[in-house]
Amino acid sequence: MAVSLILDNEELAKTYDQISDSQFNRGRVLIEKLGVKPGDSVLDIGSGTGRLGRHVIDIIGRSGHYVGIDPLEERINIAKAKNEHPNAVFRTGTAEDLSSIADNSIDVVYLSSVFHWVLDKETALKEILRVLKPGGKVGITTGAKELTLVSGVRLITDSVLKREPYNKLVRLEDSTQNQHGLVTTELIQLLAKAGLKVKDVQVKEIKRNYATARDVIRFSEASSFGNYLNHVPDSLREQAKLDIEAELEKHRTEDGIEFDGYTIFAVAQKPSGTPI
Ligand SMILES: C[S@@+](CC[C@H](N)C(=O)[O-])C[C@H]1O[C@@H](n2cnc3c(N)ncnc32)[C@H](O)[C@@H]1O
Repeated sequence: MAVSLILDNEELAKTYDQISDSQFNRGRVLIEKLGVKPGDSVLDIGSGTGRLGRHVIDIIGRSGHYVGIDPLEERINIAKAKNEHPNAVFRTGTAEDLSSIADNSIDVVYLSSVFHWVLDKETALKEILRVLKPGGKVGITTGAKELTLVSGVRLITDSVLKREPYNKLVRLEDSTQNQHGLVTTELIQLLAKAGLKVKDVQVKEIKRNYATARDVIRFSEASSFGNYLNHVPDSLREQAKLDIEAELEKHRTEDGIEFDGYTIFAVAQKPSGTPI
């Protein structure tokens, strides 16, 4: 299933802003790895509701410049409403079209929990290379597909969808995560092929914890802007949610429901001279 950008709504956007702690924390680690500093000009691709952006804006300060872009209007509206920095702007846009940004103008570009959703990754990286200053850096966090498909929420979801009545009507390989995610070596190859110098790639296990099964479903829907079960026919989707919720509940302890999560942290740089 191709990623759909028309399933989002105000409720999903608000929920994401409230319960995206895991993305926010991983994003902060990425920002540290990128060495973002006061005065930097930063491009946040897939900024969502701007939660990580606000953290970056605090770091770059009054002398810095920040642009956050995201295709989802509901999320950009929340980001705009919370923005107080005079040199920060949030606007709708996609990774594949950075035509509003000048060549060689950005110190740091980042995509926090975004790259797996980008349909044309090669064009996006070409655009990122163009807007980065020589020596500028791009940082990416994204699920390590080789591990995320066999662990965590996806494992439980698929175990339910393999049962009757879903098994005859749902192809697990059609999930958006399956269609658009990347294994680690694919990401490295894409970065290198785009002409970026790969500086650091790490796959980290980061646990996620949710109070209830309902919270897991809410998070999965909000973070995928409605795409979580879009490979399940409309007539079965609500029942599938209930069955997945029941399955998740079996894994709840007094500490809630804990999942393994595997995230790739990648940093690459625009070469300053002719690469050899
Ligand atoms: C899980 S959210 C991450 C939001 C934020 N970066 C964070 O760290 O919390 C994924 C975001 O990617 C955005 N997205 C999807 N396709 C995109 C594209 N082609 N270009 C830029 N952003 C995209 C979505 O609109 C969504 O807001």
